Amino acid sequence: MRRIGVVTSGGDAPGMNAAIRAIVRTAIPNGFRVLGFERGYEGLITNSVKPLGLRSVGGIIHLGGTILHTARCPAFKRREGIQKAVETINANDIDGLIVIGGEGSFRGALELSKECETAVIGVPATIDNDVFGTEETIGFDTAVNTALSAIDKIRDTAISHDRVFVIEVMGRTRGFLALEVGLAAGAEVILIPEMELNMDEVYGMLEESRRKGKKSSIIVAAEGVGNTKMITEEIESHTGFEVRLSTIGYIQRGGHPTARSRLLANLFGSKAVELLLNEEKSRIVGLQKAEIASEDLERSCRSIKPLNMELLQLAKGLAI
Ligand code: ADP
Ligand code: F6P
Repeated sequence: MRRIGVVTSGGDAPGMNAAIRAIVRTAIPNGFRVLGFERGYEGLITNSVKPLGLRSVGGIIHLGGTILHTARCPAFKRREGIQKAVETINANDIDGLIVIGGEGSFRGALELSKECETAVIGVPATIDNDVFGTEETIGFDTAVNTALSAIDKIRDTAISHDRVFVIEVMGRTRGFLALEVGLAAGAEVILIPEMELNMDEVYGMLEESRRKGKKSSIIVAAEGVGNTKMITEEIESHTGFEVRLSTIGYIQRGGHPTARSRLLANLFGSKAVELLLNEEKSRIVGLQKAEIASEDLERSCRSIKPLNMELLQLAKGLAI
């Protein structure tokens, strides 16, 4: 019987469990056995593995996190780490390995695929939404909604106290999360790493808002723009407005996946198994022009996903 290995790697993302379930429940009826490696690439190095059956993935579709656990695994970036993983894959007779993770995990998957015969398929799951080859990653929609509901609450204080709030959201080096959250929250200012930080422009926008009668403002800042504490202090000392910083943090990564994140998890998980059934290798599944598609793993790793800058212009245009 053919065997599929599954691993969740990098930062956890809501919907990873739904993806594991979709993989297992597509693979088993197609004659595969499924093995789950634990704690990301660490489990591949140490051979920490457990069988996944139809019942062992019951009751998890709605849960955040990952039942397989995850890790950042520096050892996998070294040749010996990859070699150990290849030994584990061979020892377990794995014919296809599905990596559920973000762009870092896919770089690891690419290195692994160069060293073994086993087919490697990526399922994009990260709140950062920064994977080239898919319009959306599993977990992104959940993180957007979590951050948004936090901002809606912060806005109560902003309005009551006539304050400016700088709200830091995650996203690592990219601004996908900040941009969608900022637009959806109706933020007066959105700061993303893809745009050079121009503090004079920020002061100008805030002062213009006050002139127009707005007593409070929301600034959504991606963590990738730099030191948000310093940015907050500079805004306060330059404008004289009362400014507070609120960092949303890890709650963005947790909680029940939204319907959208679960939908992607179901579609991506079953597509990944379909690719293995069709004997495809070194690909990632994804959403392209709103259709389920796949992309070459190497191309995904070597390319930078573009951000829709028109959304930034739209947000600016509407924050009048
Ligand atoms: P994410 O997948 O969420 O982007 P990371 O960037 O932390 O998270 O990547 C997850 C793991 O993938 C890393 O801890 C490491 O084990 C592996 N990885 C990342 N980049 C490489 C690389 N260039 N070579 C081998 N493994 C890598
Ligand atoms: O990749 C997801 C993410 O939450 C990023 O947005 C953030 O920069 C990073 O992970 C935090 O990583 P860690 O969990 O290792 O602190």
